[in-house]
Amino acid sequence: MLFRQVYDHIITRMERGEWNAHDKLPSIRCLALELRVNRLTVLKAYQLLKQNGKAYVKEKSGYYVCPEAGSQVADGHDEPLTAVSSAMQLNSKLSDIHKITASYQFSQAVIDPNLLPNLFLSEYVKKVFDIYPKLMGTYSTPQGDEELREFLCQYLKRHFRIHLQPSEVLITTGSQQAIDLVGRIFIRPLDAILVEQPTYSAALDIFRAQGARLIPVAISPEGYDLDAVEMLMKQQRPRFFYMNPTFHNPTGYTLPTNQRKQLVELAERYRCVLIEDDAFYDIYFDERPPQPLFTYDTEGWVVYLRSFSKYVAPGLRICAVFGRKPVIDPLIAAKALADNGTPLVTQKIFLHYFQSERMQQHLEKLRIALQIRRDIMEGELAAAPIDWRWTSPKGGLNIWLQLPDTVPAAALFHESLRQSISFVPGHICDPLHDMQSWIRLCYSLVNEEQLHVGVQRLADIAQRIQKR
Ligand SMILES: Cc1ncc(COP(=O)(O)O)c(C=O)c1O
Repeated sequence: MLFRQVYDHIITRMERGEWNAHDKLPSIRCLALELRVNRLTVLKAYQLLKQNGKAYVKEKSGYYVCPEAGSQVADGHDEPLTAVSSAMQLNSKLSDIHKITASYQFSQAVIDPNLLPNLFLSEYVKKVFDIYPKLMGTYSTPQGDEELREFLCQYLKRHFRIHLQPSEVLITTGSQQAIDLVGRIFIRPLDAILVEQPTYSAALDIFRAQGARLIPVAISPEGYDLDAVEMLMKQQRPRFFYMNPTFHNPTGYTLPTNQRKQLVELAERYRCVLIEDDAFYDIYFDERPPQPLFTYDTEGWVVYLRSFSKYVAPGLRICAVFGRKPVIDPLIAAKALADNGTPLVTQKIFLHYFQSERMQQHLEKLRIALQIRRDIMEGELAAAPIDWRWTSPKGGLNIWLQLPDTVPAAALFHESLRQSISFVPGHICDPLHDMQSWIRLCYSLVNEEQLHVGVQRLADIAQRIQKR
């Protein structure tokens, strides 16, 4: 599949405007040298570009960029269906799907704002301005507010008995930024990295844009096949393994404790950094999830990304990156280049809210509300006369649904959209663009009534497609 990675790499460079319409692409020999791959691999990538209408050939001259090749990304003004078909054609681009307005929004993995503590937060905003009257006139350090970093260290100690110094914490603007910074400091073009299949698709977009070679690791309700992971670490020497082991997006699966310990051992043995993205840790339904992999790390091979964006206050965009100095220091340097620090005002508001008792009360209520929504979605899916399957998520925001062969995801997607229902087609979450028979349905954004009606309508559409 290496040629597919080279293909993605070229597309990314076209999208960045490095090669425009009718520009000559580098010769096969030059690109093979630049990317440190075989010439045949580049040739196959060029042939695929030609086949997909992205490049054309001039006899005895080489490959050239097709005029429409770089214009596939939908801009915000496209008709919904145009944006959808672009999103379907593109390798990924979750953001294109999120641009589509729909009455039954099952595509965006965010929490209904009505379930978040808006009024209470606005009280905190006032309070914080009273405590720090010069807040708006002050920069944060690139690493983040010291008071917040100290508090987060105490939080880790209290919950997981991890002892960390504030110097080993970086505050970023959401985990999206943390993923981007990780990619920037670790990836050189065509470096191998391990990613779950499927995974959080925006992370795939980031790593692709940074030129990584994505090596898939299958994830199932039981976790990973650790023998396969070990083999990949041994053979591919990946720079890191990006993982979302707790209430995984999109599947909702959670890695069991024994695998967590073993993975950290593998990371140490093969010197492969584990990027543990833990955006949903607190959103559990029946029982608390196993401890983060980070708690088993004694040698500094795990970087722990803990976003509080999803369930505290998405508008504040706060994520903490925990890791040992050799990794945190370059990340701070990259953060300084990116934006010189997350706004101090959002960090302080988050700190004071996070310290309050109301935060825990909010979480308890939120878990119940989300569990009810999950149950409604599952109830409606189960009631439909369609042989779709899923593993019930024990936390998180999504159901990962396998469609029967009689209901192709692409047809379901297009038909659903006409009826104002959106979801994420599975191939978008797959580093290899397969998983065509899976879709991700998010149950946390729409209200209970909409959930009933939306899933019933989705089932009706699926039934009609099935009968064709
Ligand atoms: C696994 C995962 N990581 C990171 C993010 C980005 O979250 P944030 O809002 O913190 O940038 C998301 C958002 O859906 C996610 O699902």
